[in-house]
Amino acid sequence: MFETVTSEAQKLLKKMGGEAENVAWKWEKPDDVNHGDITTTVALQLARMLKKSPRDVADELAAKVAKISGVEKCEVAGAGYINVWLTPHALLEELAVTRKACTPAVTRKKSAPVIVEYCSLNIAKPLGVHHILTTMIGQVIANLYAHEGTPVVRWNYLGDWGTQFGKLFVAFEKWGKGADPEKISLNELLALYVKFHEEAEKDPELEVLGQAAFKRLEDGDKEVRRVWQAFIDVTKHAVAPVLERLSARFDTDLGESHYDSAMAPIIEEGKKKGVFTTGEKGALIVEFPPPSTLPPAVVLKSDGGTNYLTRDLALVVDRIARYHPSAILHVVGVEQTLHFQQLMATAKLLNWELPVWEHIIFGRMRFADQSMSTRKGTILHLEE
Ligand code: ARG
Repeated sequence: MFETVTSEAQKLLKKMGGEAENVAWKWEKPDDVNHGDITTTVALQLARMLKKSPRDVADELAAKVAKISGVEKCEVAGAGYINVWLTPHALLEELAVTRKACTPAVTRKKSAPVIVEYCSLNIAKPLGVHHILTTMIGQVIANLYAHEGTPVVRWNYLGDWGTQFGKLFVAFEKWGKGADPEKISLNELLALYVKFHEEAEKDPELEVLGQAAFKRLEDGDKEVRRVWQAFIDVTKHAVAPVLERLSARFDTDLGESHYDSAMAPIIEEGKKKGVFTTGEKGALIVEFPPPSTLPPAVVLKSDGGTNYLTRDLALVVDRIARYHPSAILHVVGVEQTLHFQQLMATAKLLNWELPVWEHIIFGRMRFADQSMSTRKGTILHLEE
């Protein structure tokens, strides 16, 4: 559209004939929006050649420019500047041209995909402002790969498993006032979670109840599972509009719970290879021989329960089998550095064949005077 306006304007000079024909019509962008979308000094240049008053030349041209399609308004200002306002339609068309010029033409490669895991929110908790870091950084990385043609799998690895769901179930039964788990809000769930930890400080028995409830969840107890599933639905529903505002869209949100049953063969493999050994109180642990200085990690708790690390081992096995990725990238805060170091070191001890595998680290957000902690309820909602 901009080019059409310019070529039409150029025709006006051609019609004037003589020296005017050789003048190039040039636009500038006015510093002040009150001077139009585009402006030109062409009348000043012509006036000098034609030995006419710049104002007169400008008036004559402006009257004709005003009739060009795409021009909304044309005014003469100062000594003979011609200021032009384009129609909204013309501006939008121009914007589309710019956008197209800025978007690389993508030739889809047939290469193995890169898995970018980001956002990875936890079920039953509202999104905190800190979630913007993993979500935006992850998305930028995923977009970069997509733009250069590499297939990407955008993975929101939901935190939907772990003892916290046992605790939440106990809190919900005790203080939930018989609410419908499918109608509860994330703020109410957060309040229950905070209350559980406050009460547990006075009454250690609660921790035991929480562990037992989680065991019921793991064993497939109908009632605990029903409530847990409701919390997942409630959470997904509540965070959807916030993620939509961030244009965050994922290919999968397969979460931690999915890997609970996939861990047994890994435990067996680790034992057989002598990588997992029995530690204190019968827990199964992995120790990292020197020169590694990493502290040992637990892969199976003394009560037989699995944990975050074991689930991540199962996750990697599954991702490799399912996608044969060229890379797996976890976009997760700096506070989980030790976890990822132990995870990757364990996979190495197990002698697994691995793709590029990285923890993409970013810093931790905090308040000026205190840390952000969902457990303590000190959180700034992303939505706000
Ligand atoms: N849901 C976890 C959290 O909020 C982050 C998950 C990171 N990814 C992983 N594969 N461990 O802390």
